[in-house]
Amino acid sequence: MSGAARHRPLGVVTRGTTNPNRLRRVDNWIVATCADRLVAAADPLVVDLGYGATPVTAVELRARLAAAVRPDVRLVGLEIDPARVAAAAPAADPPGLTFARGGFELAGLRPVLVRAFNVLRQYDESEVADAWRTMTAALAPGGVLVEGTCDELGRLASWLLIDADGPRTLTLAAKLTTLGSPAELAERLPKALIHRNVPGEPVHDLIRALDGAWQTAAPYATFGPRQRWLRAVTHLKNTGWPVLATPTRWRQGELTLPWPLPKPHPDPPHP
Ligand SMILES: C[S@@+](CC[C@H](N)C(=O)[O-])C[C@H]1O[C@@H](n2cnc3c(N)ncnc32)[C@H](O)[C@@H]1O
Repeated sequence: MSGAARHRPLGVVTRGTTNPNRLRRVDNWIVATCADRLVAAADPLVVDLGYGATPVTAVELRARLAAAVRPDVRLVGLEIDPARVAAAAPAADPPGLTFARGGFELAGLRPVLVRAFNVLRQYDESEVADAWRTMTAALAPGGVLVEGTCDELGRLASWLLIDADGPRTLTLAAKLTTLGSPAELAERLPKALIHRNVPGEPVHDLIRALDGAWQTAAPYATFGPRQRWLRAVTHLKNTGWPVLATPTRWRQGELTLPWPLPKPHPDPPHP
């Protein structure tokens, strides 16, 4: 009996929407920030949880990691829907890429990295913490979960890096050439945050501050949206937000902050 068959998959079947290249932003970030863990791992096992109606984004993640981090990376795509596991079989390329049935318990696997994208979005907010706990409990020691959401084409995305102690960072990422305003990211926050974009919540404060910084950086639009984003992120940092990473990542349209986010600043009293 395989490891996958011994475990009752935890979770429910949800819509399987996916698209080629939809997850390239988070994949590029994973390559840039999680490579060390994979390189150091005795078993470079990665799980893509909830790959959807077709396994295209799992195929892409494996290819990106194999090309940029470790050629011997092993990616297992887990799906709770058995029909989607069967449909993915022709794309398998063992031992580097396989597909199996599994849920938040990760089917008995002990991966060093889990990507779970657009999976929790269709659950209730009250189910998120348990799902995180179940997934992180199954990780190899020092392993991490990258859990997030994006739009259909992957132009707006956000994700949390979560380890056994809980979330560590929040990243917002956008395709800058199509970004109207950073406020658009509010609709693509991870499930734990999407209902929190209301006054008094730190994420509301963050989106408002980022939008304000984007407006402040408007004169730089003549040099292109990348320069404008760089200025906006620099402005956020200069005004006290604990922005992480370096301009190399900011240039990709990313903004990463430590978790928990700082508490909202009370609005200054009106004169
Ligand atoms: C919207 S699709 C996401 C596909 C792909 N990850 C993407 O972002 O394009 C969500 C998929 O997650 C699967 N799913 C939902 N809950 C799950 C769970 N607990 N374990 C494994 N798969 C799950 C659903 O069956 C569905 O196919």
